[in-house]
Formats: sequence, structure tokens, C-alpha cells
Amino acid sequence: NEIKIFCPATIANLNCGFDVLGLCLEGIGDEMIFRKTSQKGITISKITGADLPLETNKNVAGVAALAIYNTINPDFGIEIEIHKKIKAGSGIGSSSASAAGAVFCVNELLGKPYSKNQLVDFAMKGEAIASGSEHADNVAPCLLGGFTLVRGYNPLDVIRIDSPSELFAVVLHPHIEVKTSDSRAVLKPEISLKSAITQWGNLGGFIAGLYTKDYNLLGRSLQDVVIEPLRKHLIPNFDLVKNNALQNGALGAGISGAGPSIFALCKGQETAEKVAYAMSNSYQETGIEFDMHISKIN
Ligand code: HSE
Repeated sequence: NEIKIFCPATIANLNCGFDVLGLCLEGIGDEMIFRKTSQKGITISKITGADLPLETNKNVAGVAALAIYNTINPDFGIEIEIHKKIKAGSGIGSSSASAAGAVFCVNELLGKPYSKNQLVDFAMKGEAIASGSEHADNVAPCLLGGFTLVRGYNPLDVIRIDSPSELFAVVLHPHIEVKTSDSRAVLKPEISLKSAITQWGNLGGFIAGLYTKDYNLLGRSLQDVVIEPLRKHLIPNFDLVKNNALQNGALGAGISGAGPSIFALCKGQETAEKVAYAMSNSYQETGIEFDMHISKIN
């Protein structure tokens, strides 16, 4: 009657797949505890690590939990404890971790009426109500693991993709907050045909690289001619950090989700460690505090 889970952080977009491509990280994430209660409804009993609302309707986990709970209307209630480790506005899927954790555990306590792909839809709806925009590129990898591609949104069609065994993600997380809504406000609603051709060529190349385990192809495909140019000014020293990552052997690097975190993908742990060191060196001069994570991709 009690479930404790780890809700992993995620990297959305990965340069070539804005709003459709995502990756699940290891070792960095929130903890959530769910308990059945005799009183019906969803309540949030405790939050640590972040200043977030306890009211169910104002909390991402609460909204996501209700979205699935209300479809079944069971004769028991559910109480949620949230222990946040992923900072809000960090670019590594903080609200998605809460939304994904909530739908996963409520589904378990309800006796698993829904598949994981259906859970992505609930989590996305929950996150959208609380954060203002509907995209599944963080909730999908959080629920399914590894890389995920949202092939389509209407209806939601999510594909999980296995990755080559020596792939590592490095994440530099500056301790500044960039709200996803602000980071989306700088984007343009239309792009040129030329940019679209570059972007979809790269996305196709990246997916092909995952299937064929071709690290060089992955690296060549990690480009972003659409979003990065409009967002990078929100992140101090972005170009320097990215260039240093590339010069030290990263396959590619870019903005993690809506930023301000910066990610790099690397082949092998040794390279990942070298890249992490180079990235931190080039961020230090900003004077902004930050932390680094290295995740093996599974
Ligand atoms: N794809 C989204 C964006 C992820 O870049 O705005 C942020 O949550």
C-alpha cells in the first residue's frame, strides 16, 4: 500500500529533435512516496527540496495524479510525498519527473489499468496544465527509459529506442533558473524550408545512428540550426562551454531542454570525464555556481 520511486531527470530536444526527442539520465532525479488512504482524492502531504504548492490542483504531481485517478474514481485515496532533487527551471525535466512519477505510481496503486504509452499521455496533460505547454519529450523518456521519439502528438505515438552501449551524457547544470515559458517565448512560430531540411536530416541521421550504433553519425547529427541560435543568449558562456566539449572529444553538445543546463554526448567514460572537466573549466569564469553529472545511457 506504499510505493517509493526514483523519478529520473531527462534531456529533451538533443539539438535535432525539438519537442520530439528525449533521453533518460541515471543517478539524478527526485524521490516520491505514494500511500493509499481511506479518504478519497489525491493529497500532497509533504514536499522537501523545493518551494512548491501543496494544493493538489496547483502542483504538477497533483494535477497529473488526478488526471489518471479521476478516470477510475476508486474507493480509496492517495497521499503523495515529494522529495525534489531536480531544481525547477534547470532544463533537465524537473516538472516532468513529478508528473511521470505521479502517473506511474497512481497507475500501480489502481492495479495497472493503463500501459506505459498511455501514461505518457496522462503525464503530458498533467504537466501542461501546470506549466503551460504540452510536450512529451521529457515525460516519455522518464517513463520509458533510454531515448524516446515522439513520432506524433495527435494521437500520441511514442517510440523507445535502444542506444549504443558506450554512450554517456554529461550535464552541466548552472544554478540559475530559466522558465520554460520564457525560453519558449524567444522562439519563432515559423522556420525556413532550408532550416527545416537541415533539422530533419539531422533527426533522421541521429535515429539511424542509434540503431546502427554509429557514434560518428550521432555526432554529425547533433546540430541545431533552429532553436539554439535563439536560446543560447539565455545561458552565460554557452558557446565557450560547447566548443570546449567538442574540442575535448564530445560527439556533440547543446542546450538541455529549455536550458540553462548544457549537455554533451560522449563515447566512453574516459572521454565523458575529460569533457566534464573541460566544460566545468570554461563555466567557472562566469562566477555562477553549477554542478556536473555524468550518466551512462541505458
Ligand atoms: N522541448 C521543450 C522545450 C522541453 O525545449 O521547450 C522543455 O521542457
